[in-house]
Amino acid sequence: MAALPRLLIRGGRVVNEDRSQLADVLVEDGVVRALGPDLLASGTSTEGLRILDATGKLVLPGGIDTHTHLQFPFMGTQSIDDFYLGTKAALAGGTTMIIDFAIPQKGCSLIEAFDKWRSWADPKVCCDYALHVAVTWWSDQVKEEMKILTQNKGINSFKMFMAYKDLYMVRDEELYAAFSQCKEIGAIAQVHAENGDLIAEGAKKMLALGITGPEGHELCRPEAVEAEATLRAITIANAVNCPLYVVHVMSKSSAKIIADARREGKVVFGEPIAAGLGTDGTHYWNKEWHHAAHHVMGPPLRPDPSTPDFLMNLLANDDLTTTGTDHCTFNTCQKALGKDDFTKIPNGVNGVEDRMSIIWEKGVHSGKMDENRFVAVTSSNAAKIFNLYPRKGIIAIGSDADIVIWDPKATRTISAKTHHQAVNFNIFEGMVCHGVPLVTISRGKVVYEAGNFNVSAGDGKYIHRKPFAEYVYKRIKQRDQIFFHMLLEKKRENPSTKLYIYIY
Ligand code: URP
Ligand code: ZN
Ligand code: ZN
Ligand code: ZN
Repeated sequence: MAALPRLLIRGGRVVNEDRSQLADVLVEDGVVRALGPDLLASGTSTEGLRILDATGKLVLPGGIDTHTHLQFPFMGTQSIDDFYLGTKAALAGGTTMIIDFAIPQKGCSLIEAFDKWRSWADPKVCCDYALHVAVTWWSDQVKEEMKILTQNKGINSFKMFMAYKDLYMVRDEELYAAFSQCKEIGAIAQVHAENGDLIAEGAKKMLALGITGPEGHELCRPEAVEAEATLRAITIANAVNCPLYVVHVMSKSSAKIIADARREGKVVFGEPIAAGLGTDGTHYWNKEWHHAAHHVMGPPLRPDPSTPDFLMNLLANDDLTTTGTDHCTFNTCQKALGKDDFTKIPNGVNGVEDRMSIIWEKGVHSGKMDENRFVAVTSSNAAKIFNLYPRKGIIAIGSDADIVIWDPKATRTISAKTHHQAVNFNIFEGMVCHGVPLVTISRGKVVYEAGNFNVSAGDGKYIHRKPFAEYVYKRIKQRDQIFFHMLLEKKRENPSTKLYIYIY
């Protein structure tokens, strides 16, 4: 393979989560080699050097989308954005890494699922990627495989579904067991927090009432269904002192529960997604069936139109921590599988290309957060939680050169007519966003520039992640130690004391 040209990004404002500075960035061999004012004047050689002018622009760490489902076999079909088109679209939007999910069927091997997802992704990805693995059932084999995945396969996060009854849903005792194992092996537990039993009952009720359209999807799973599961997951995780990450936080109620738990000192993180921050559930009442169906996802968008602003405020203030998209796209004809029954509409919406612009527009342009918080919530926090930092999520000497030259003043109008995602509609259609990625650099290579791609399938790499991310586990370990000492003290005072359970 030909050596990459050296790159000098000149004259831009380099934005990290902790500060911004006017600086040049020198990129060699896929990593940031130097960072500082006027690097040419301080002796940087011009041999084989490509200069990118970033005057008046921002130079940001590439986005990390914590939550995608590319070519996901789901609800009788497969999501239309595959690992090629989905990751290409990500690059066009300023995202340079995605974390997708390997999801085994109940009774099936986690390692086989992991291998399957790798075999799909490796030849196709255009940007770097990692995988979360789902725990959809419980046994000694699952427990052992979680350990193997963590020790040998670069996995440090496992997702448990509290919804999708009879498909992926696990019950409380399985959550307890899975959380305990996550803690043992140094992984972070993730939950899809919705009460699957209540959804199943609610759906039956709606259908019996003759409500078969997309509005039934939201009506049978109101906010309380998400909030209850969120609180239950936090309670169980806390009982075993396991760090918890709540994916796709969609409601005010659930976000408030996470915020309260964080204020009580619990190690929990909440991930709102582009859809929940950028639009709302009033679309479910649109008279056009397919318009409404295009927005069906779980948990649903909320009809309360003040929800996106509320979630953005919490994200700005560190009550919520990261952002993903849950990018899981189905074309109109795939959505039509549920034409006569909303429970059969494949769940999922777009976002991988749009997330950075949506958050800039609704978060930074609106004045809710500054450019540094933008970097924190679009890359650095994810890199810290999933143990990718400081390789990813920062522009610093030695870090991977995953960089976006960002024009904060330019605007673009989101549209299915111009987006790079395979899906034939866009839930943000017509939205005008400030904040446009001009150039995207992936591990030192300019892969997207002025609307053109220079990237091939398989250029991205699978990124191994080590367990016991410090950002997550320092507090967990200390709490265990303190608790252990407390137990010893009690035993010393009175050797017959029996202490059975952990309460933090
Ligand atoms: O509607 C959604 N969210 N589809 C993808 C699967 C999931 O629950 O994350
Ligand atoms: Zn989910
Ligand atoms: Zn609409
Ligand atoms: Zn998802």
